[in-house]
Amino acid sequence: MAAIVLQRAPEEPSTVVIVVGSGLAGLSAAYEALKSGATRVCLLDSDLKPGGNSIKASSGINGAPTQFQKTQDDDKFFDDTVRSAGKRMESTVVRRAQREELISTLTNSSKGAIEFLSALGVDLNVVTQLGGHSVARTHRGHGGAPGAAIIRALLNKLKEDFGPGKFDLLSGCTVTKLLTSVAPWPVPTIAQRTRVIGVEYKEADSGRLVSMEGPVIFATGGFAGDAHGLLAQYRPDLAGLPSTNSPRPGMHGQLSDVGAQLVDMDSVQIHPTGFVDPANPLAMCKILAAELLRGEGGILLREGQRFVDELATREKISNIIMSSDPTPNSDVSGLKQWNVQLVLDAGAAAAAAKHLEFYVGRGLMRKTKFRDLDPTTKSTLKEYSKAVIQGQDPLGRTYFGHWELGQDGEWDDEAEVVIGSVTPVTHFTMGGVMIDKSARVLAKGGNAIPGLWAAGEITGGLHGDNRLGGSSLLECVVFGRIAGHEAAKALFAHSPKAL
Ligand SMILES: Cc1cc2nc3c(=O)[nH]c(=O)nc-3n(C[C@H](O)[C@H](O)[C@H](O)COP(=O)(O)OP(=O)(O)OC[C@H]3O[C@@H](n4cnc5c(N)ncnc54)[C@H](O)[C@@H]3O)c2cc1C
Ligand SMILES: *[C@@H]1O[C@H](CO)[C@@H](O)[C@H](O)[C@H]1NC(C)=O
Repeated sequence: MAAIVLQRAPEEPSTVVIVVGSGLAGLSAAYEALKSGATRVCLLDSDLKPGGNSIKASSGINGAPTQFQKTQDDDKFFDDTVRSAGKRMESTVVRRAQREELISTLTNSSKGAIEFLSALGVDLNVVTQLGGHSVARTHRGHGGAPGAAIIRALLNKLKEDFGPGKFDLLSGCTVTKLLTSVAPWPVPTIAQRTRVIGVEYKEADSGRLVSMEGPVIFATGGFAGDAHGLLAQYRPDLAGLPSTNSPRPGMHGQLSDVGAQLVDMDSVQIHPTGFVDPANPLAMCKILAAELLRGEGGILLREGQRFVDELATREKISNIIMSSDPTPNSDVSGLKQWNVQLVLDAGAAAAAAKHLEFYVGRGLMRKTKFRDLDPTTKSTLKEYSKAVIQGQDPLGRTYFGHWELGQDGEWDDEAEVVIGSVTPVTHFTMGGVMIDKSARVLAKGGNAIPGLWAAGEITGGLHGDNRLGGSSLLECVVFGRIAGHEAAKALFAHSPKAL
């Protein structure tokens, strides 16, 4: 056991805004807190490398209406988000009015979020339409990899504009708990309330426990990568599933320990196709096989046979796969995965060439010839090719992409096919701590916990049943900025000297 060193930050208490987590939510909060006049921000991250899961984001960030969209009058973002939230709009835990307020804060501030990032020099010129959106409003740059580009720009800007002493990134520091005091509350009928006054964290290199005082913004991300912890607790059916997220425990318990209300915790987004890397098949963290591979014509096989319309919803495909027994494996960690083949013919492969170059290069997919396939797969492909010619698929697929195998009536045993193994993976957790439109963390009963804000995937109460693609980077920027601004204001309220 490490000794507890109760060491104040070198400054006086309450001159520092503490941000926990250096993903997009934490960085946005740090920047806005400093812009709003905070004397100093300490950004703590347990990892040595900043950026969290945010750095992996690949599709982009939503915004409407923006100068980059073709339509200049996109006013459907709110409605699309409400539709996607589904039945949980009528939940009795999060009232409809509360959820609508969070959603409209998100959508109303989305134009500003895109302008904020553009002003930092992030290229967001390419706008695409993702599933569930009624128009194209997901922004990324020409170079792709929007998550990494945004994180890089924000980190550079923080270092340039503020620098050490004002902006300090403390890497390898894991927050272990929130520090509280029971503060008298101005409303006489509520005698006392818990106030958050700082954090205790552990330094990786020295093993020391350190405490630091100041308003706290929690931005530690979701729990999709916590396969045997929070995920197993709230969704036992998903325990042990691999994830697109880095394996890492969820920090939600640190917030519920001070009274925060956790909502929508059983709402977890699954993606049906994460690659099983033949070089490391038991890895918990998987690379996503882009939906586009199926859209351009790819099909899914189980033991050589098709089993689903490959363009059905993510949820439907995942459920069908997971309704069968998982692949037995010897991994002691209890990894649970399935063995599904994703197969593209030469036509589909040509249409997805840019993506395939990456996947084949990484060894996640391999090129082979029709003649080298097993007999079951061969007959499945022949049958499917006939179905494509007739436009009649027994499994109900209606769009066949660029599939061309067997379409000219001739059969070529030398035809190229590209194959990879895929399995369902957890991708995003909709649930988390309940916040209000000012990013204040709410306790059961609806009171805000003084001294504590949260932003990003750790929060809940917004997305409901399903998060729209591109809206998580957006919530990081929108609620991160709000939290940063509010925490800086609180600093002034308690420490007039800081003004
Ligand atoms: C492969 C992939 C692709 C995605 N693509 C998109 C996309 O295109 N568009 C989109 O909108 N969303 C996308 N998402 C979702 C989105 O990236 C995440 O929801 C979002 O980045 C979460 O950001 P965050 O700041 O809340 O958390 P994170 O970015 O995960 O950061 C949390 C940080 O907190 C740190 N931390 C955790 N616990 C502690 C502790 N106790 N003490 C100190 N530090 C701690 C972690 O080390 C981490 O660095 C994608 C996700 C993945 C995995
Ligand atoms: C968002 O904008 C709409 C339309 O102007 C407004 O009615 C709504 O109150 C706004 N939401 C918030 C949270 O400010």
